[in-house]
Amino acid sequence: MAIEKVGIVGCGLMGSGIAQVCAAAGFPTVVREVSPELVDKGVKGIEKNLARLVEKGTITESEKAEIRGRLKGTAVIEDLKDCDLIIEAIIEQLPAKRELFAALDRLCTEKTVFASNTSSLTITEIATATTRPQRFVGLHFFNPVPVMKLVEVVKTIATDPSVYEEAVAFGTKLGKVAVRANDSTGFIVNRLLVPYLLDAIRALEEGVGSTEDIDNSMKLGCGHPMGPLTLLDFVGLDTTYYISQIMFDEFKEKRFAAPPLLKRMVLAGWNGRKVGRGFYDYSNPLKPVPLKFLRSLERS
Ligand code: 3HC
Repeated sequence: MAIEKVGIVGCGLMGSGIAQVCAAAGFPTVVREVSPELVDKGVKGIEKNLARLVEKGTITESEKAEIRGRLKGTAVIEDLKDCDLIIEAIIEQLPAKRELFAALDRLCTEKTVFASNTSSLTITEIATATTRPQRFVGLHFFNPVPVMKLVEVVKTIATDPSVYEEAVAFGTKLGKVAVRANDSTGFIVNRLLVPYLLDAIRALEEGVGSTEDIDNSMKLGCGHPMGPLTLLDFVGLDTTYYISQIMFDEFKEKRFAAPPLLKRMVLAGWNGRKVGRGFYDYSNPLKPVPLKFLRSLERS
């Protein structure tokens, strides 16, 4: 079955990015949020991104209009009824995802393929909220979705091989490199990324180097676009803490255990760039400065 019309549930940071790339790849796309206000906010964000692409000359004004024309924002879940593929990008909580998919399962035809953008929950456990685990995959995108070239396509032990191939082909049609992963917690990227990020915090805690020196080491020594502490601020400390807890719970391995400093920063609400404070202070977003408090941890 060919995927022609796509539904996205959630129009936050990830959902709006996914909706944008689907519409840009030529798919009629319906994106649903819980209230008209959130629909409006999400769709305005996409329009702003598209306007920036026109300014930079990446797309023309008429291409922007075509992409926007393929996008429909809605607060009504029934509007997803005739979609061939529905990608969920809502809050990272299992009960909320299971409840949503149980409702979509009742609403959609038996042919509709379901996908979750979860970064840390088990696809199998979300899929069993439906009567169609064989038509359920993971499609894990990366932030910022329009820029990052990867999508992890995740299969469970129940996924039908032909549905899986369709999902891989869909990821490729979005212009992404679609990598194949099994339903192991964290898939490929977070399995490797989360211990790395946590270890950067441990290095800071142990006074191995300063915030800037740890970041510059990985940027300039390994060619990463961002150092690990900047990346933590970008992803969100709360998000990383949450993922690490799920991974630790699954594998019971120390490399996934959250360092005490991460827990305390999350308890203090220092969740990174989105709140203006994480490992850096973003009072001037163009010139973030490492937090003074953290400097007391460094060797003199
Ligand atoms: N939306 C759309 N486009 C964006 C964007 C956004 N939010 N942020 C940046 N861009 C675009 C810019 O417009 C620019 O486009 P251009 O090259 O066509 O002009 C391009 O990206 C580069 O942006 P900038 O020049 O402003 O800045 P940088 O060169 O520093 O790039 C970055 C910014 C792309 C965010 C880069 O720093 C980067 O790749 N960082 C690492 C991001 C990363 O690792 N993401 C994955 C996080 S893990 C994850 O998402 C998984 C989850 O489960 C935790």
